Amino acid sequence: MTELVICGNCIDELERLSPESADLIFADPPYWMRVDGVLKRVEGTDFDGCQDGWDQFESLGDYEAFTESWLRGCCRVLKPSGSIWVIGGMQCIYTIGAIMQRLGFWFINDVIWHKRNPTPNFMGTRLNNSHETLLWAAKSKKAKYTFNYRTAKELNDENVTADEYAKGMRRQLGSVWRFPVCSGAERLRDESGQKLHSTQKPAELLHRIIAISSKLGDLVLDPFGGTMTTGAEAKRLGRQYIMIERDERYCEYGRQRLEAVRFEDAPIARAIYDQKPIRVTMEEMLAKRVFVPGEAFYMRSGEAVATLDKTGKLWLSGELLDMHTSAARARRVKAKRINGFDYWYVIRDGARVSISELREAYRESLASDDPLAGDAQ
Ligand SMILES: C[S@@+](CC[C@H](N)C(=O)[O-])C[C@H]1O[C@@H](n2cnc3c(N)ncnc32)[C@H](O)[C@@H]1O
Repeated sequence: MTELVICGNCIDELERLSPESADLIFADPPYWMRVDGVLKRVEGTDFDGCQDGWDQFESLGDYEAFTESWLRGCCRVLKPSGSIWVIGGMQCIYTIGAIMQRLGFWFINDVIWHKRNPTPNFMGTRLNNSHETLLWAAKSKKAKYTFNYRTAKELNDENVTADEYAKGMRRQLGSVWRFPVCSGAERLRDESGQKLHSTQKPAELLHRIIAISSKLGDLVLDPFGGTMTTGAEAKRLGRQYIMIERDERYCEYGRQRLEAVRFEDAPIARAIYDQKPIRVTMEEMLAKRVFVPGEAFYMRSGEAVATLDKTGKLWLSGELLDMHTSAARARRVKAKRINGFDYWYVIRDGARVSISELREAYRESLASDDPLAGDAQ
C-alpha cells in the first residue's frame, strides 16, 4: 500500500513520480484570489479569507505558467484510464479549464459545489459568492475512466423525499452538489486553537469524488495536499494515496490526521452497487450439486413441471429446451424466451425456492477478489 506525504513543490515532485501511475488526481490549487486590503465583517472584525503567501502571483502570465507546469506533471503521472478533478473559484477556474483543454484533457463534467453556508458578501456590493466549480476530466476523449454510476446514485440523497430515500428510491446524481463548507469539529486547528488552513475542503466532498471515480485499492494523488483531506478520505475508502504539499507545517498536521484514519469497509468503498454479478452457468451449478439432474422444476403457481437434464436444459412436454425458452413455453407468453431464473422454482426442504435465489447463494459462496486482503488496517 502506498500511503505517502511528500513535503515539497509539486512541480518538482510530480517529475519524480512514475509515469502513468495514478488512477485518480484531485487538485485544489492556489486560487490567486487577489484580495486587496482587509475584508471586514459587518460587525467590524477582520475576515481571514485566503491571503496566504502560497496564493500570491505576480501576473496572469505567471499564474498561467504555474498552472500549465503542474497540469503537465499531472498528465504525465495519470494513467490513460485515470481521471482528474480540479476545483476552483471564478478567479482561476476559467484559466485552468482553458489550459486543461489545450493540454488535451477531455472534460467529463463540470460540477457546481453549492455551499450550504457560504461566506456572506460583507459589503453588499455584489452577489453572495456561494459556489465553487469542479472540472472532471479524462486524459483523452476515448479514455475508459472509472465511473461508479450506481454508487453515485446511492450517494444521492437529493431529488427524492426523505420517505422515498428511506424506501431505497434513488435518482441519477446530477452536477450540482450541496455541501456545507468545512466547519466545527471537522476544521483542523493549530496549537493556539486557530484555523490551521484557510481553504480546508469538506471531507464529504472528497468522499463523493473518490467513491464515484476510483476503485478499491486505486492510487489517488493530490499535488496540493493542504490539510490532507484527500488522503484522509482515500484511506477511509481503502484507496492508496500520494499527497504533495510544500508547507512543512501542513504536512506535519496532515500526517497526524492521516495516522488517525482507518479504512471503513462498506458497500460504497467497494462500489458493490456497480459490481456486475459473477457469471455462472447451469452446467457449473450442476457440477457443484446446486441442482441435480432429473429434479423437477416448477412454475410458481405450479401450472407446469419440467425435468432438469444433465446438460442444464429442461425437458418440457417431451422437448429438450433451454431454461429461458422453456419458461416462455410454460407461461404461454408471446415472447420466444423470457428469463428462466425469474420463473422456475425447485423444492428445498419441502418448500418452493426460486432458482434465482439458489444462484445468488452460489455466487456469494464464490470467493471474491479482495485487493486489501491481508493488509493490517
Ligand atoms: C487550496 S489549498 C488545498 C487545501 C486542501 N484541499 C485541503 O482540503 O486542506 C492549496 C495548498 O497547496 C499548497 N501549495 C501551493 N503551491 C504549491 C506547490 N507549488 N507545491 C505544493 N503545494 C503547494 C498550499 O500550501 C496549500 O496548502
